[in-house]
Amino acid sequence: MIAVIFGSSTMNTEFAAQRVVRAFGSDTADLHDVKTISSSLIERRRSMVFITSTWGAGDLQDDWEAFFPQLQQMDLTGKIFALVGLGDQENYPDSFCDSIALLNQCILQQGGIVVGETSTEGYNFKHSRAARDHTFVGLVLDEDNQADLTDTRIRDWVSTVRPLLS
Ligand SMILES: Cc1cc2nc3c(=O)[nH]c(=O)nc-3n(C[C@H](O)[C@H](O)[C@H](O)COP(=O)(O)O)c2cc1C
Repeated sequence: MIAVIFGSSTMNTEFAAQRVVRAFGSDTADLHDVKTISSSLIERRRSMVFITSTWGAGDLQDDWEAFFPQLQQMDLTGKIFALVGLGDQENYPDSFCDSIALLNQCILQQGGIVVGETSTEGYNFKHSRAARDHTFVGLVLDEDNQADLTDTRIRDWVSTVRPLLS
């Protein structure tokens, strides 16, 4: 079972996470709010999707920020992760979806593997710590400006990461 773990301040990420679970199918993935989990969930599972919005100027969503010190202490060897970031490319073009870069860096440092890169094509931003060489470290969604693209983006991405997480 893939654990889909989200942190959300104004529900955008929560709704997106529900749609990600639906795209995997409830027999394949289940949904968890990072606010209510303990590190034992991550210890038990092999495959996970971490979903966070970006707040402040490139910061993790608050509940992810609270959990982050625990994640930094965990041994993630042998585990596979995929990342989803929510942000606003029009109002925050210099820190667009930055926070998935923090999760990515932490997972790699703790021995985990990250799959599910996507192209930066179709987005309009100046800088993102989550992007390198026209590639994001995960799936990037913008409910503020491109909500109409979200379902297609989730569907296409889930079909590519599903075999990698199974
Ligand atoms: C005060 C504030 C700061 C924000 N900072 C960023 C940011 O640095 N980068 C970004 O991509 N989006 C930023 N956003 C946009 C949110 O990440 C976006 O609206 C997201 O969909 C919120 O998801 P949530 O409701 O699940 O927390 C910010 C929004 C607000 C209100």
